[in-house]
Amino acid sequence: MRLYAGAKAVFYALSRSATLKRLASKYGMRTRESFARRFIAGETVEEAIETARYIGTQGLLLTLDYLGESVRTPDEADTATREYVRLLDVIVASGIEANISLKLTQLGAGIDRATCVDNLRRILEPAGRHGFFVRIDMENSPWTELTVDIFETLWQQEYRNVGIALQAALYRTEQDVQRMNELGARVRLVKGAYKEPSTVAYQRKEDVDAAFLRLMRALVDSGTYPAIATHDPLMIAATRSYAAERRLANDRFEFQMLYGIRRDLQSSLVSDGYRMRLYVPFGHEWFPYFMRRLGERPANLGFVVRGILRER
Ligand code: FDA
Repeated sequence: MRLYAGAKAVFYALSRSATLKRLASKYGMRTRESFARRFIAGETVEEAIETARYIGTQGLLLTLDYLGESVRTPDEADTATREYVRLLDVIVASGIEANISLKLTQLGAGIDRATCVDNLRRILEPAGRHGFFVRIDMENSPWTELTVDIFETLWQQEYRNVGIALQAALYRTEQDVQRMNELGARVRLVKGAYKEPSTVAYQRKEDVDAAFLRLMRALVDSGTYPAIATHDPLMIAATRSYAAERRLANDRFEFQMLYGIRRDLQSSLVSDGYRMRLYVPFGHEWFPYFMRRLGERPANLGFVVRGILRER
């Protein structure tokens, strides 16, 4: 089980390497067959829309994520915000589903709270007018409190087209889920993609899984249209049976998975009549996201190495 936390730590460290980023950027997205394409829909919005259209034909729902995080200046946060607002227009024009995901450090959470709240509002306003749902991703634990706090601020300002992701790995999530259930806010439950210290998070996979199951039950019992986001067949089976036991109809919750992972499970859930949403990332800033996917499953490294060798 030490491997579980260890791989995340190694890939997190590698994700900060400029050399590796240069190498990956050179080969990762060059053609449709390049290795990063497995997890990332493309670098441009046009590529993302093309992928989204195809996903729609498979009976899957989707959320588009314009990749980016940890911006350092107000100008960068402003650019990311404008890109999101532009993305809303492109999505509306294309007729695909109106649903996006974003990260608060992309909107300036690391610069100051007020900038981030303003930028989020600049997205939520037009998103609301066009009937979009906006999901706030959860980043690593130094951002948890601020993310929940900003979410609640917007909620108190009557924004209802917004939801939040919460991580089973963190000890605090039990309280956060309870709070979101009281508010009637929509939660996406995930295991947690980041290497976290034992002061704030479970370190063993079985403890994270047990927490995920407890939180899933709390969401099925008292949540508002919860999203159970996992590729783990055990978590999915447990959710299916608990939802059935509690008589939660299939249209009162959804499963979510990441683009490119467990396509077999995605289609079997759709065939069985469940709502299944794919998280579809795109954009030039794909490297940290890509490295987190490798950290979750180091075996993925094999296809990266094969991909680089093929393309050189
Ligand atoms: P687990 O890691 O136990 O994997 C179960 C099985 O899934 C594996 O055995 C394998 O078959 C398959 N699998 C999992 N990851 C794989 C990979 N990278 N490549 C190939 N196969 C893989 N995290 C976060 O911290 N903040 C967030 O906002 C989000 N948002 C988010 C949205 C959606 C829609 C999903 C599905 C996930 C996230 N995550 C996330 C990521 C999440 O925290 C977690 O890291 C991954 O989902 C992997 O955990 P699983 O629940 O899939 O279980």
